Amino acid sequence: MRPFNLSVKNFSPVFWHTVLTSTDERRNELEQLSAELAQLESLRAGADYNTGSITLAAAWTLYATTRYFGFQRALEVGTFIGKSTWSMARAMDREGANGEIATCDASNDIQLPWNGRTRLTQYKRKTSTQMLASLNGLFDFCFLDGRVTDEDLLLLDKVIDQNTVIALDDFEGMEKGVANLFKLRTMPKLGNHFLIYPASVEQLGKLGFSSDSTVAFLLPANRIALSNQ
Ligand SMILES: C[S@@+](CC[C@H](N)C(=O)[O-])C[C@H]1O[C@@H](n2cnc3c(N)ncnc32)[C@H](O)[C@@H]1O
Repeated sequence: MRPFNLSVKNFSPVFWHTVLTSTDERRNELEQLSAELAQLESLRAGADYNTGSITLAAAWTLYATTRYFGFQRALEVGTFIGKSTWSMARAMDREGANGEIATCDASNDIQLPWNGRTRLTQYKRKTSTQMLASLNGLFDFCFLDGRVTDEDLLLLDKVIDQNTVIALDDFEGMEKGVANLFKLRTMPKLGNHFLIYPASVEQLGKLGFSSDSTVAFLLPANRIALSNQ
């Protein structure tokens, strides 16, 4: 007898349907987040390296995923103007988590005007290698919006385990998210992680988003449970 086989292509819409299903009842939170992220745009004026930030749809997928899984300790590569950091932090605050985020940016030293409960530690003008070398303990979420190096993988291995969820921005074509995935796939700890494609334009459009998302996830297979309901 053959096993039932669920592909990445078929599973990804199911994942996003489940994680984003509460969007309608959280319209107020989405509006608040949208307004706060718009204000962060002014931080570009202080950037030494002025580059892209994440879209509202991508921010919402980070927010919804952080709430869904209840992440408490996140690390991020690529702070820039902090839209992604802010989205994770707001979600942790909403969950009432004792949250903590470590985030680095090699080219910028922008201070995020965060005053919520979640503790932010910014590694300004620090590379991922420098930040990872100074972190202790395990993180349950890792968001990569910068390019990781081979040296980073050895350091990352010390602060993640088989249960850590990974997110990769710019997961399209030959962009850095795809390059990062190839690197991460060499880590034995991530051998049992399942790839989730970014939420599709169609799914996001049905929820009222006009922007797209390029944030893919690597989900530990042991975090996927079948339900008889
Ligand atoms: C696309 S931007 C990040 C956008 C940010 N997540 C946001 O929501 O506004 C990427 C940033 O990552 C930084 N970066 C890229 N690779 C890095 C690395 N290996 N270590 C630290 N920072 C890195 C760049 O300097 C750049 O500012």
